[in-house]
Amino acid sequence: MLFGKGNVLVGEMNVLFGKGNVLVGEMNVLVGERDPARATELQTDRSKERPNVSRRRRNRRGALRSAMQRDYSQERYLAAKRTVDDRALNADVLDALRPTLRSATTVVEVGAGIGTMLQRLVEWDRLPAGDDVTYVLVDVDVDALDAAAERLPTWAAERGYEAAVEPFDEADDADEGAVRDRIRIETGDGTLRVRAVAADATTFLAGADPDLVIGCAFLDLLRPPAADEFFDRLPADCVGYFPITFDGGTVIEPPTDPDFDAHVVDRYHEDMRRRRDEPGDPHAGRRLLTRATRDHDLVAAGGSDWVVAPGLDGAVADAYPADEAYFLRHIVETIRGALADDPAVGDERLAEWVADRRTAVDEGSLVYVAHQLDVLLRVG
Ligand SMILES: C[S@@+](CC[C@H](N)C(=O)[O-])C[C@H]1O[C@@H](n2cnc3c(N)ncnc32)[C@H](O)[C@@H]1O
Repeated sequence: MLFGKGNVLVGEMNVLFGKGNVLVGEMNVLVGERDPARATELQTDRSKERPNVSRRRRNRRGALRSAMQRDYSQERYLAAKRTVDDRALNADVLDALRPTLRSATTVVEVGAGIGTMLQRLVEWDRLPAGDDVTYVLVDVDVDALDAAAERLPTWAAERGYEAAVEPFDEADDADEGAVRDRIRIETGDGTLRVRAVAADATTFLAGADPDLVIGCAFLDLLRPPAADEFFDRLPADCVGYFPITFDGGTVIEPPTDPDFDAHVVDRYHEDMRRRRDEPGDPHAGRRLLTRATRDHDLVAAGGSDWVVAPGLDGAVADAYPADEAYFLRHIVETIRGALADDPAVGDERLAEWVADRRTAVDEGSLVYVAHQLDVLLRVG
């Protein structure tokens, strides 16, 4: 969903990493051939759109981003998001996915982050449904894949599954366009072969032939022309499951100054559309639904709003469940970062608004809702 880390990777490189007890081995990084051009084009767009943004202001934004990198972690955010997504996911849409999961042998998850969807599908007895399922985690963020490769064997072992990191096999590389086995998990119901591939989703799909493509909290990161390219790459008859697709609704309560609160939300949504390095679509959910009915076969759809409030899921009245207080702080920080150089939002007002929201999280009074849609379709 909204807060992707849209690294633009240029050129081809191999990344070697090993962490803790998990030797991950060699990871191939696939790169979108259109990325450099897009980066240049977007830079040009930005300079046209914001001629008055001073160098000092841009420097300050850089400093804010550094502070965010220091104090906030994308890995922790994605882990904290797990329980929020668990509550939000539309059960009817997930049920409609069951027949596909039963027969699928190759699943590609784009924008897979740290692998929480894979964990969920196993924990909720949806995978593996067949004897042997290959599940490919694709993401442009090597750090996220690094975290996934570190977390998954530990998680599997904690659940009593056998997990092994498989050695790199040249033959696989030749046959399957640089996709490499990583982790084999034996759950007792079957074998899951998990592969992690650092690649742009659209580029990766050009050389893949999955039965099922999953993109959770992903499509709103693509602005409309990029979304068209992405859908053009989905193989005919493949099923696409796109849950937690943002659809233009952000509610943060209790109000501070209602007019200013509404202005912050408007500017935040506008930033999603315009941001230079990761332009997205704040109305991706409704566009996806239209696309599914117009160009493909819509199988199921439903709302999947994030609802975060104190007292949910057995938490005490003024506390948030699991790590959701961090999730909220990360959201507030993301909004602050998005609006930090927006001339339409004064610095002092923004700082007051952020301080107020942080206090509300600390006191356990902040309520947050994001409107999202889950869509299941068969590519026509
Ligand atoms: C909001 S996160 C969601 C992660 C995961 N699906 C989840 O729900 O926890 C979006 C992910 O998409 C990745 N991403 C963004 N643009 C991408 C692209 N063009 N190709 C592949 N991954 C991308 C980001 O790096 C990030 O990990």
